Amino acid sequence: MDLYKGKAPVLGKNCYVDDSAVIKGDISLGDDSSIWPLVAARGDVNFIRIGERTNIQDGTVLHVTRKSDNNPDGHPLLIGDDVTVGHKCMLHGCKLGNRILVGMGAIIMDGAIVEDDVFIGAGALVPPGKTLQSGYLYVGSPASQSRPLRQAELDFLKQSAVNYVELKDDYLSQL
Ligand SMILES: CC(C)(COP(=O)(O)OP(=O)(O)OC[C@H]1O[C@@H](n2cnc3c(N)ncnc32)[C@H](O)[C@@H]1OP(=O)(O)O)[C@@H](O)C(=O)NCCC(=O)NCCS
Repeated sequence: MDLYKGKAPVLGKNCYVDDSAVIKGDISLGDDSSIWPLVAARGDVNFIRIGERTNIQDGTVLHVTRKSDNNPDGHPLLIGDDVTVGHKCMLHGCKLGNRILVGMGAIIMDGAIVEDDVFIGAGALVPPGKTLQSGYLYVGSPASQSRPLRQAELDFLKQSAVNYVELKDDYLSQL
């Protein structure tokens, strides 16, 4: 948890950040969120906002794009509530809503928008500026809409976040 240009990460209540994670600069984490081993998150040339009860799993990289003449806001990284980001994902300058599962190894690029209640298959690549519509499964590289989510999968989006809140509480209790 390091300072960059006077800005240090800000954590909500009951967050868990693994000792091996590298978290620098303008980053905030909502209550009950968790950051697992070997995550690298750099809020240096823009900011990163992570909501409540969201988990960012092992080896995931979070980064942003700077402001420029062509793109005055640059691309911050915004992640909502109850989001599960699986192992070894790359989220770069994109916007994710609430109750989303990002499958292991997925890549989401600048300006992409993932609406609420979306399941992204393992290994998917979401190209710059693409919008993933609420209620669907997306797979592949480039990611395409595969089918509407089943009720069990919609329920699992919420359950996955609950599971990780419980797991991080276990870890916190051992500190
Ligand atoms: C995509 C996923 C949800 C399965 O969806 P599904 O509709 O039940 O898919 P099925 O297993 O019935 O397979 C249907 C087809 O999709 C293919 N497929 C499955 N997962 C895929 C993926 N991630 N990317 C591309 N194709 C995939 C299967 O090989 C199969 O192809 P075929 O018809 O040519 O044989 C699942 O494989 C997945 O990627 N889950 C993510 C798990 C994860 O990363 N969790 C985070 C851990 S913390």
